[in-house]
Order: sequence, then structure tokens, then C-alpha cells
Amino acid sequence: MTTGHRVNRTAHTAVVGLQWGDEGKGKIVDLLTSEHDVIVRYNGGANAGHTVQVGDERYALHLIPSGILYGDKTCVIGNGVVVDPEKLLQEIDALRTRGIRVGTNLRISDRAHVVMPYHKEQDAALEEYLSSKTAHAQGNLAIGTTRRGIGPAYADKIRRSTAIRVGDLLDPEYLRSRLHVICTLRTAELEALGVHTAPLDPDALATKYAEFGERLRPHVDDSVYALHDAMGAGKRILFEGANASLLDIDHGTFPYVTSSNCSTLGIPSGTGVPGSAIGRVLGIMKAYSTRVGAGPFPTELDNDLGHRIRERGREYGTTTGRPRRCGWLDLVAVRYSVMVCGATGIACTLLDVLSGFDEIKLCVGYRLPNGTTTDRFIPDAHRLEGVTPIYETMPGWSAEIRDASDRTTLPQEAQRYLARIEEITGVPVEVVSLGPERTQTLVDGRRAVALATA
Ligand code: IMP
Repeated sequence: MTTGHRVNRTAHTAVVGLQWGDEGKGKIVDLLTSEHDVIVRYNGGANAGHTVQVGDERYALHLIPSGILYGDKTCVIGNGVVVDPEKLLQEIDALRTRGIRVGTNLRISDRAHVVMPYHKEQDAALEEYLSSKTAHAQGNLAIGTTRRGIGPAYADKIRRSTAIRVGDLLDPEYLRSRLHVICTLRTAELEALGVHTAPLDPDALATKYAEFGERLRPHVDDSVYALHDAMGAGKRILFEGANASLLDIDHGTFPYVTSSNCSTLGIPSGTGVPGSAIGRVLGIMKAYSTRVGAGPFPTELDNDLGHRIRERGREYGTTTGRPRRCGWLDLVAVRYSVMVCGATGIACTLLDVLSGFDEIKLCVGYRLPNGTTTDRFIPDAHRLEGVTPIYETMPGWSAEIRDASDRTTLPQEAQRYLARIEEITGVPVEVVSLGPERTQTLVDGRRAVALATA
């Protein structure tokens, strides 16, 4: 048996988005994978999407950590994740079709909760109701979810009596008995939301989901012991956050957040590994800001500049294809995420998108409706809606920078922009991403040649 005090505490790394998601975590996780043995997802579900470019091949993954693209890494879907088995199996099949090995190298926690089809129906029905004319009279309260059933699945986890866990899929009779009760309740709840489909059929669902369980059986594990055993054996773990810190259910812009702890604070509960085991936290930050779905966004540019960022950055959702809202970098928000996540460094992504702007703005404070100012973030949608950003304006640069070989060869203005980010956040920008390719990355100031060929 292994215990925490035998762990090498500096060996483990966490990667987390510092904004509202889509910071380009996939590429950074991919770069760090070569230095780690086990890659772990601790939160969220198929609402997340990350894209990894390997040579000419582009992979879009939603549930499986991108470490799967390396044959020799163990990838773990932790207990804090909500798993849609149908989507997961599709992802496994798609990877295998492209020659990627998915066998015992993929472990799925038996305690991860299952996203069922009725969760997706509930998610969509609630969003429809909240954006309907009736509810509009009270203001539009729709969250703009991905409709992947995330909120309803986590709600069942908290409610306990109506939840299904991955381990339950392996016991068909137990699954069937639970679904009989759940389906009766859920049919009534869906009807209350105005969904009048045929009553949910517990036997059909039980048969289908037990089949999914059978296919997933070789991967299902007690991931908590598996992770502690790996740490005890000296393996290095990389914790991969999904969604992002400002979408954290407790610390994000509530209620316009997702339903999990996406900040690094979700790691202990979502994996069973104590926070003290993590030595390095790399926060991923876009050189500007984006947001998908509803919710406050103080630095949003609902104009030509925003449009230009969207087109240069190809800011359209990996999961839903929705155009992302774009705006200037909000360092009040990023500094707050650095604090909450305990980030020890930043990876600044998509810096190349900012080439060609005459001037670039950085938000360094907020003006409140009563005229006072603050440099503290406000993790509450209603209160954050009322703030006006206070900007510092910096000169932009015209050169394309994708092929820069060194931080010192970037235009002076780009170097100053990075230096200002370091000053305000108080942590070093350890990685700068200048394009989708592994080679278009500066690590500790220099082009990531070694990592790219690793
Ligand atoms: P849900 O996670 O589908 O419930 O969506 C809740 C909110 O989080 C919505 O505004 C989504 O657009 C947003 N969201 C969830 N996951 C991601 C992500 O991976 N990137 C960006 N936004 C996300």
C-alpha cells in the first residue's frame, strides 16, 4: 500500500485555464506530456474540447486526455468527471480507427458519474425554458450551456439518490433497479419543463447502458488507488483541468459557470490526490480574452476589433461551433485565477493573433457603478455586469511572429506586453505559444525544439 508522505511532492504538475476556457490548453498539455507518465482529467465532461495538432493530423478530444496520442502514457478519467459513455466510446473508436492505441492505458474511475440521455434533454429543456418569452419577462437567465447534460448530471450527483456512477454500469441488475425509480421521477420532471416525449423506458436504457458498461469494463478502475500507487512508484502525474478557472462553480462568474470545480481546487476532490502533492501549476492564458455562452465579460469588444480577433484567432467553439465573444486581456481576472489556482507560472497562448494591431489594451482595474475603483475580481455575475474596465494602452506590433526562435527576437512591443503581464500577475510567463504547431512555442524563452521532437 502507498501513502501520501512517500510521494515526491515536486514531481506533479497541474495545467489549468485562467480565463473562461479555450485558452489552448490542449497544446500545452501535449507539450508537457513527454515529461509525465500519467495524465489525469479531474472535472467536467464532454463540454470541454481540446484540439491537438500533430504534424498534419488534427485531433479533437472531449473526454480522453490528449496524452492518449502517445502510446506509453496512462490516461485517467478521474472521479470528478461526468462521463457520457456513448460519447466516450465514440471517441475511443475514432482514435482506434486512426491507429491510436486505447487499451489498458485508459483508466476510468468507477466513481465518476454518468451523463445519461435524460440529462441532455433536461439541459436543453431548461435552457429553452429560460430563454423563452415567459421566462424572459424576468430577464434572460439562460446560461448558454453546451447542452451536453453537464449541469443535470452534477445535480444528480449532489442529490445522490438519482445518480448513476460508472461502476453501476457494470452491474446490470442494480442499474436496472435504480433506473426504474429514476425514470419515473425524471419523466415527471421533464414534463414539468414542457418536454412531452414518451415516458422514459428504464429497461431499454438499462440494457443499452449495461452494454456500454461491458465495453468500458477493461478500463474501469479504482482510480484513487491507481493514482496513489503510480505516485508511490515514482511516476509523474499531470493534472489536466477542463473548462477554466472563471467557470468554476464556486469561484467563477456564478451563475454563468459550469457545474464543476474547474480551478485547481477541483483536483483533490476530483482525483483523491491531495493538493499538497502538486509542485507546479501552469496557468494557461490567452493573450486576449474570449468567452462562449452568456455571462459578464468586462473587456468584451462587440465591434470590428473583436471581429478581427475572432477571425485571426479562429475563435469558434470546438464543442459547439459557436462564435466566441472576444475582447482585450483582463488582468484583474487573470491575477485572481493565478491566486485561486496557485499558479506558479503562465503559458501565454495565441500571442500571434495580436500582430497587426496599432495598440493593445490591458485591463488593470474596474470602475464600479458608484464611481470607486478596484483591482480585485468580482466572482459574481450580477455585480460584475456593472463594472467598466480601466485600461492601460500599449503600442502594438505589425510583424508576424509565428516563427520567432527566441523571446528576445520578438518585437520589442510584444516583449513589453509579456513583461507587463508578469509584473501584474506576479508570476513568470514560462511558455509563449505563437501558433498551432508544437514547434511554434517558446519554453523558458527559447523555441521548444527538444519538446517538439520528444
Ligand atoms: P455547461 O458546462 O455545458 O453547463 O456550460 C456552462 C457554461 O460554461 C457555458 O457558458 C459554456 O459555454 C461554458 N463552457 C463549458 N465548457 C467550456 C469550455 O470547455 N470552454 C469554454 N466554455 C465552456
